[in-house]
Amino acid sequence: MENISIQLDQVYGFVPQAKVAGYASACEAAQQKLHDKTGKGSDFIGWLNLPSSITQDFLADLQATADSLRQKCEVVVVAGIGGSYLGAKAVIEALSNSLGWLQADGKNPVILFAGHNISEDYLFELTAFLKKKSFGIINISKSGTTTETALAFRLLKTQLEEQVGKKEARERIVAITDAKRGALRTLATQEGYKTYVIPDDVGGRYSVLTPVGLLPIAVAGYDIRQLVAGAVAMESYCDTAFDKNPSAQYAAARNALYAAGKKIEILVNYHPKLHYVSEWWKQLYGESEGKEGKGIYPASVDLTTDLHSMGQWIQQGERIIFETVISVAEPDHCVKIPADKENLDGLNYLAGKRVDEVNKMAELGTRIAHVDGGVPNLKVVMPKLNEYYIGQLMYFFEKACGISGYLLGINPFDQPGVEAYKKNMFALLEKPGYEEASAAIRKRL
Ligand code: PA5
Repeated sequence: MENISIQLDQVYGFVPQAKVAGYASACEAAQQKLHDKTGKGSDFIGWLNLPSSITQDFLADLQATADSLRQKCEVVVVAGIGGSYLGAKAVIEALSNSLGWLQADGKNPVILFAGHNISEDYLFELTAFLKKKSFGIINISKSGTTTETALAFRLLKTQLEEQVGKKEARERIVAITDAKRGALRTLATQEGYKTYVIPDDVGGRYSVLTPVGLLPIAVAGYDIRQLVAGAVAMESYCDTAFDKNPSAQYAAARNALYAAGKKIEILVNYHPKLHYVSEWWKQLYGESEGKEGKGIYPASVDLTTDLHSMGQWIQQGERIIFETVISVAEPDHCVKIPADKENLDGLNYLAGKRVDEVNKMAELGTRIAHVDGGVPNLKVVMPKLNEYYIGQLMYFFEKACGISGYLLGINPFDQPGVEAYKKNMFALLEKPGYEEASAAIRKRL
């Protein structure tokens, strides 16, 4: 079986190859710290050997729970935010029919998401839609106290109980949370929900290969065994010396570029299905690296769509960016461009070619243009867009993120900055316990 691979040749015109290779020993030291658990945040390195520790029995149990929801529900709502949402969303979107939201296939439940915003309109429209649907809920929160998720779950639970009764609702709700702590654990125990544990040593943004990602993905009808198998392959592929290790090489190249003044990394795809893989990646890198006044800003574009909006900036704006392109070698389907006798649109020069050939030439042409315009280019090649290679891709990015964070000298496994908005929101909402903060913040308004 092939593996995903990384190409760095279009970096070396900006940062000499020797400079990138110069990071080899630092990358190996960072990797060693991850494996020895001697670096910053070492309590949260459970993701490192997670793929190879997942047993077939565990996957069978998850699949059985997924099958029960699939049997009972035409819609399953996944409530979660951040790391408790983006992994599942990314994988499901990447594997789904692009128009799946228009045409339920009758085989798989529709997966909807909630608890990732506090929009009243969103929640109104979602609950209105669910009124006529047979639905279930997967509620995901490691802390068990996240306001966005808890609020959505309260609404959804109330509605489900009204629609099918408390007893049947219990059969259609699964909670994924900490083993012991948090309001969701207490609630789930009290209500008698089926639960899964998010391991203590796996942070939200590294949790896609725990039940947080695996259960929703299985409910959506995708093969979690293949997803995990891909990650297992990457786990050993990335547990190697620098010259063989794509994660270490990616970490080295992006840190060398950062040191050379490239402060923004744009993740690029040429398939709109990968949009949420970019959102997942942005959280992984943004939350892991953006601290202590440091960190590459992770951005993303969907091409060629955004060449007609952000393309101008990328080509000629401030030269502080570099690109990482996810290139899918072979699409799932074949569409050939037909010939046309009249040729009024002038497209006959493309007749007989596959659409993907045009896409690939757009990709190559863009790469050359951007490099000419001063944008270093990294390329990650995925042989196909399927469960196996998405599993590989996600583990590849996770491992690289751990190494990269250590190269940067920060703790890639905490997120202290996320608390700031919560404290203010609780103070403004006058949450019990926040009396002093409420008085202080009110004075500032
Ligand atoms: O990666 C993280 O740790 C965060 O994005 C969390 O996943 C997010 O804040 C949601 O937290 P919780 O799962 O505790 O509701």
